[in-house]
Amino acid sequence: MTTLAEMAVEVLSTADGREKTALSRAYAAAWRASREAGRPIPIGRAAPPDAPARPDRPELLSPRDVPRRRPGTPEGRIALLHAVAHIELNAVDLHWDLVARFAHIEMPPGFYDDWVKAADEESKHFNLVSDCLEVLGSHYGALPAHAGMWRAAEDTAGDILGRLAVVPMVLEARGLDVTPGMIEVFRKSGDAGAVAALKTIYAEEVGHVAYGSKWFHFLCGREARDPQPLFHALVRRYFHGPLKPPFNDEKRAEAGIPPDFYWPLAEPAAG
Ligand SMILES: [Fe+2]
Ligand SMILES: [Fe+2]
Repeated sequence: MTTLAEMAVEVLSTADGREKTALSRAYAAAWRASREAGRPIPIGRAAPPDAPARPDRPELLSPRDVPRRRPGTPEGRIALLHAVAHIELNAVDLHWDLVARFAHIEMPPGFYDDWVKAADEESKHFNLVSDCLEVLGSHYGALPAHAGMWRAAEDTAGDILGRLAVVPMVLEARGLDVTPGMIEVFRKSGDAGAVAALKTIYAEEVGHVAYGSKWFHFLCGREARDPQPLFHALVRRYFHGPLKPPFNDEKRAEAGIPPDFYWPLAEPAAG
């Protein structure tokens, strides 16, 4: 019988975005069905690749070489959606990598429910944003994208608490800070499709951040460690640079991340 870890590795090893997300969604449905039937797919063990398979396009560039976006122009809005699609595809892989890479650590079934659901939602997000790009006459792969998105996964490959601190509780929480501004850009341009896609993403990303906080606190409790100082130490070790205000305090609170987790890591306000 195929195990959940093997399924995760298969998704990670699929290069094409639409194929990767289709497989991801099918395996998420299989996991859900197995849990509902009371015969969960075994977690098993499988070695995830060091980095996930990626399509030939987009070309991956160092962030400083990616052309700047001007959201006031149609080209700028396409570039913005393209960047979001790239983030979503990376997020699909990050969640499946979490499942496979730490499969040797005993976790309750709910841990896998959460991260498989998150991977399923990221797959939906990639498809929604790719559809928006296609409506605008573009597609994922048409523009260059940031290299180095896998850095957080590499840095925390041996540390599940570090992974939870940096990926859902820092990177995905950052998404909660910036998405309202993006929704506003597309509302102003009258792109109802992009507004709807980004609103779906915004609503569901709160859940991903909450899963991060939930399982971070679970592991801290199991190991009798104090969550807040540990979070600060892990983010300082694995995340390169300060966190950038303004923060979406309300949504972060909804996701179970209190201000004393992130404010001490913030860069001083400009001016
Ligand atoms: Fe997402
Ligand atoms: Fe997410």
